[in-house]
Amino acid sequence: MGNRVVNSSAIQQIMEDVHARFRDLRDGRPADYIPELAKANPDDFGIVIATTDGRLYEVGDTTKDFTIQSISKPFAFGLALKLLSSEHMLAKVGVEPSGDAFNAISLHPVTGIPRNPMINAGAIATTALIWAHDPERAESLLLDFLSDMAGNRLSVDENVFRSERDTGHRNRAIGYLLRNSDVITSSPEQALELYFRQCAVSVSCRDLAVMAATLACQGRNPITNVVGLDAMCNTDVLAVMGSCGMYDYTGQWLYNVGMPAKSGVGGGVMAVVPGRLGIAVYSPPLDTYGNSCRGIAVCEELSKRLELHLFNQPNRAGTVIRSSTNGQKRYSRRWRSKVDLDLLKEHGEKIKVLQVQGVLDFAAVEELLAHLEGSTTNESFVVLDLAQVLALPKVSIRLLRDALSNLQKQGIYCLACRGEHLENFWPTKESEAEGWFESLDRALETVENRLLEQLHSTQGGERLPNNSITLLADLGEQTRSRLMELLERRHYSRNDLLCRKGDAGSELFLVETGLISAGINSSKASKRIRFATFSSGVCIGEIAFLNNLPRTADLVADEDSTCLVLHRDTFEQLQHEEPEVAIDMLLALHRDLARKVDRANQQLSLLEQR
Ligand code: DON
Repeated sequence: MGNRVVNSSAIQQIMEDVHARFRDLRDGRPADYIPELAKANPDDFGIVIATTDGRLYEVGDTTKDFTIQSISKPFAFGLALKLLSSEHMLAKVGVEPSGDAFNAISLHPVTGIPRNPMINAGAIATTALIWAHDPERAESLLLDFLSDMAGNRLSVDENVFRSERDTGHRNRAIGYLLRNSDVITSSPEQALELYFRQCAVSVSCRDLAVMAATLACQGRNPITNVVGLDAMCNTDVLAVMGSCGMYDYTGQWLYNVGMPAKSGVGGGVMAVVPGRLGIAVYSPPLDTYGNSCRGIAVCEELSKRLELHLFNQPNRAGTVIRSSTNGQKRYSRRWRSKVDLDLLKEHGEKIKVLQVQGVLDFAAVEELLAHLEGSTTNESFVVLDLAQVLALPKVSIRLLRDALSNLQKQGIYCLACRGEHLENFWPTKESEAEGWFESLDRALETVENRLLEQLHSTQGGERLPNNSITLLADLGEQTRSRLMELLERRHYSRNDLLCRKGDAGSELFLVETGLISAGINSSKASKRIRFATFSSGVCIGEIAFLNNLPRTADLVADEDSTCLVLHRDTFEQLQHEEPEVAIDMLLALHRDLARKVDRANQQLSLLEQR
């Protein structure tokens, strides 16, 4: 974990300031009702912040071990939710703040059920349920779970365990009361033993911060990526921490600090900023509530200085659409005849390309849908690029799916691409027929094809001639006929290779009919990576041909195709024998290349726009 520690930054500076500010705070004293805890050094003081992408900022005594004590309670509750159903749990332990001290005998007057799992009564009941679930393995289940949450193998401090076991008569009394109200249905002794062991688990401030970050990360440890809790159980844990985690100080804490949190009489405090970070403070002197005095002071300070209060959220409206452009500006890497390119240029505003970003939660999807509905017409095509989307919560999937199918019904052809990284993305495989694409280029090409089909069929019912080869059309009549005599017409069947990567660039291809693509076979991705496609009318291979360089990609016929091929030998001969024809042809090639460079530059400059 050491290499995750970041220590030269502005944030580190703040950590050190805060540490220095409270180092001399002399309030409170270490717990002594568990005799072993009285041995703690009141000067020990550590602060760690762990981010949800696994970075740690720390200052002070951050690797020194102490016992987790009550901070084990939310985790035991989480484990119980995971092992047993939440209905079963709620029948045995409430989720209502008690407003009483942590060790209060706070049971519902009628049912005898403890108020919540954060006070001792509820925590003993929770641990008893874990024990009853699997008496043999209960301790290892708990230790493994706590270790997963911390990303570190944790163990019990036997001295502290024995010290509490031998003196914890009040907890023992609570255990028997729970037995009396049948919250515990067998002898409470084993459950109490496990509870004392759970409280005596040794952690460092660093461990606690990672545990907090795991809770901030919907139950997935951001360093090891191990999922300790599913998002639902994790939410339940944070909710109970939010309302009950600091005992009868919880209301004031939420008001001042604004984070779900948990303290322990060992001197630890753990606070969670959901989705963002975990904070842990270690300092043994406690206030009368049993909360670490420095722990509270530090969390208040960090919350204010770093603006972490949960109820102080910036307005995120207007951030979901990263870029919005149309088919006049953004196009696929499909090279087409001039006729088709001109058509796309003229009618490209019917293609909308939206790059979406961030976490697509309800508010973000609402914004996206409002944008889509407000800006598309019946003839529109929409490409949604999801590459920059970080998460797609379940609620959004339903909304997005319904909205896309509604648009589809209104005749708006919607495609989405680059969403495979999203956990809840619904198509499991690329399914182009259903509008899901792995590559943005493929999606763009598909909408362009659709638009062209529409235009060809609306413009006189006839397909426009698209086999006029741009390069030849650009030449005078005489040069063209002379060149035609020198070109070899070659037929390719689907999947035939025109040339391979690394071959000498000794031929120039003019696509007469069909479709050719340039790409390479990637052994890593075990598939072909396509760089571009070329329709009839387009000249290909000129870069290697003009520079006499090896080919940088394979050229493959994607359909049965015909090409007119010019050989280097023929061209060299032409330069000697009929230089005017060669110059005309080179000028035409030059113009063609300039058009291509221009198009490529336009696409590149789009990348710089916000
Ligand atoms: O049960 C007890 O009294 C201790 N093992 C734990 C109490 C505790 O940590 C209260 N928290 N601030």
